Amino acid sequence: MCPCCSGSENVNDLDNFFDERYQFRAAEKYPKRGLDPKSQALIDWVVPKLDGAQTMMEVGCGGGMVHQDLLRNQKISHAIGIDVSSAGIKAATQNAEKFGLTEQIDYYQVDFAQNAEQFEPADFVVMDRVICCYPHLDLLLGQAAQKASKYLAISFPVENVFSKLAIWGFTRCLKLIGQTYHPYLHGHAAIQKTAEQAGMRLVHRDRRTIWTMMVFERS
Ligand SMILES: C[S@@+](CC[C@H](N)C(=O)[O-])C[C@H]1O[C@@H](n2cnc3c(N)ncnc32)[C@H](O)[C@@H]1O
Repeated sequence: MCPCCSGSENVNDLDNFFDERYQFRAAEKYPKRGLDPKSQALIDWVVPKLDGAQTMMEVGCGGGMVHQDLLRNQKISHAIGIDVSSAGIKAATQNAEKFGLTEQIDYYQVDFAQNAEQFEPADFVVMDRVICCYPHLDLLLGQAAQKASKYLAISFPVENVFSKLAIWGFTRCLKLIGQTYHPYLHGHAAIQKTAEQAGMRLVHRDRRTIWTMMVFERS
């Protein structure tokens, strides 16, 4: 465990930054408009391979849209939703109740990177726009990949000069308004290598606007 995170319940101020306003806005959009196109693209490669029996773990689930959509479409049998943001878990729980899915989902408000050992593996692990929020790629993605017994789908910002500039500018603006949250642009080669070191093989790659998606299968 790295010294900067060890013992901290709120690494990178995630529990404050991803607050009720952020999480409920996303969660309330889903029942009206369905899954957003970027999240849909993230799971599109895996969905035809699911027959309703598989389990899923969504790390950094926020309002829970991805796993709830798969449950509602009977593509998976059970989901675990994990988020360090209390507002995320609250918003996800509210939608789960609305859709009658509470029996099929277990929610946990924890920092997955520091508590991964408490979770059993799942067939399908998803992290949609999550690794760019966390300083330690190996701890977060490495452990998530180890929990994926069949598939791992992740999305993160594209890596080019514009995204580097945008993240630098966004971080400066956040600092100016007194926020301590910091976004991270982890290198794509390092992302792929981290998943591969956990025994996964890259099987699909896609891009939507500023987001890159990688899907891995257990070798
Ligand atoms: C940009 S939001 C995305 C939420 C959701 N996946 C979506 O696409 O709408 C990132 C989420 O990841 C969560 N998160 C980041 N690092 C985490 C960690 N180590 N453990 C649990 N949750 C984490 C944050 O709290 C936040 O809710």
